[in-house]
Amino acid sequence: MLILGIESSCDETAAAVVEDGRRILSSVIASQIEEHRIYGGVVPEIASRRHSEAIVGVVREAMEQSGKTWKEIDAIAVTCAPGLIGALLVGVNFAKGLSLSTGLPLIPVHHLRGHIAANYLTSPDLEPPFLCLVVSGGHSHIISVKSYTELQVLGRTRDDAAGEAFDKAARAMGIPYPGGVELDKIAEGGNERAYRLPHPKVEGAPLDFSFSGLKTAVINLLHNASQKGESISVPDLCASYRRAVVDCLTENFQKAADETGAKKLVIAGGVSANRLLRREVAALAEKTGRTLYMPELSLCGDNAAMIASQGYYEFLAGNTAGMDLNAAAQCDIAQRPAVGRKL
Ligand code: KG4
Ligand code: ZN
Repeated sequence: MLILGIESSCDETAAAVVEDGRRILSSVIASQIEEHRIYGGVVPEIASRRHSEAIVGVVREAMEQSGKTWKEIDAIAVTCAPGLIGALLVGVNFAKGLSLSTGLPLIPVHHLRGHIAANYLTSPDLEPPFLCLVVSGGHSHIISVKSYTELQVLGRTRDDAAGEAFDKAARAMGIPYPGGVELDKIAEGGNERAYRLPHPKVEGAPLDFSFSGLKTAVINLLHNASQKGESISVPDLCASYRRAVVDCLTENFQKAADETGAKKLVIAGGVSANRLLRREVAALAEKTGRTLYMPELSLCGDNAAMIASQGYYEFLAGNTAGMDLNAAAQCDIAQRPAVGRKL
């Protein structure tokens, strides 16, 4: 079965054609990062406009690169939640138009379910059940993936997401957006024991995360140093900060793995590209005799191949949508998006 996937939840306009949820025939991504960089973060209004401009070309390119005709495509999958509402609406409405004109089924896909599915593309042998750490710019979840479409959130962040925590701390250190990526590179050359930073815990919820205090600790440290005229080693601070964030993630991930007895560990989302996180979860899996799956680096960030992959499994589960499909800025990963009636 061939699925055309469409993604526009944040600052990447993407389209891809994927076969049977596992084989990428084409994947095209138009990034807007350069344009948002001068503002230090994604400007929603600009994101929506750029998606509108890019989407026709990106879908056309994905179709051309796949070598398939519209007659050979079986369904259209689109990210409908969560994300920036104006950005999501561009993809959703475009997909509805395509579905209407071609008569192909329309499949709504939860963006984070898509991130998890990036692993189905990377590892053809991976099948649920497994335990997944989903870490992106907007979310940090520990999820029990019981089947392709049945997911249970075991832990979540109470404030900032891991990616957001990296980006905000990087910004405080003067590293341009998206700082998480650059902070990770700089940290490789730093001493992670140079600065003592807290490892915040959430009282009564051992699997939940809290990163805002850690970010504030870095901002205070930078303020105090500048008031005293002391210099800060950016590589050392990046390394110490990255160590603290990754420790919080892996400690809770291990607790969840122990509690659930999970044999397979999976990571997903933009932050799953983080070098230290990849090394630490690999060590955790090795130490505890579990199998680890990680998305290949090109599939960690936002792309449409992961949406087409998850779309395949949503389709098999009967989760298609009608012409009144709407986008939602927020949506629990455990729930099916509100798909409305078939019109
Ligand atoms: O999943 P994603 O591409 O978009 C969302 O769904 O949010 O995640 C983007 C986030 C950004 O916060 C970015 O800074 C972070 O992932 N990120 C990283 C790395 N690569 C991307 N954070 C830490 N280390 C990295 N190597
Ligand atoms: Zn994402």
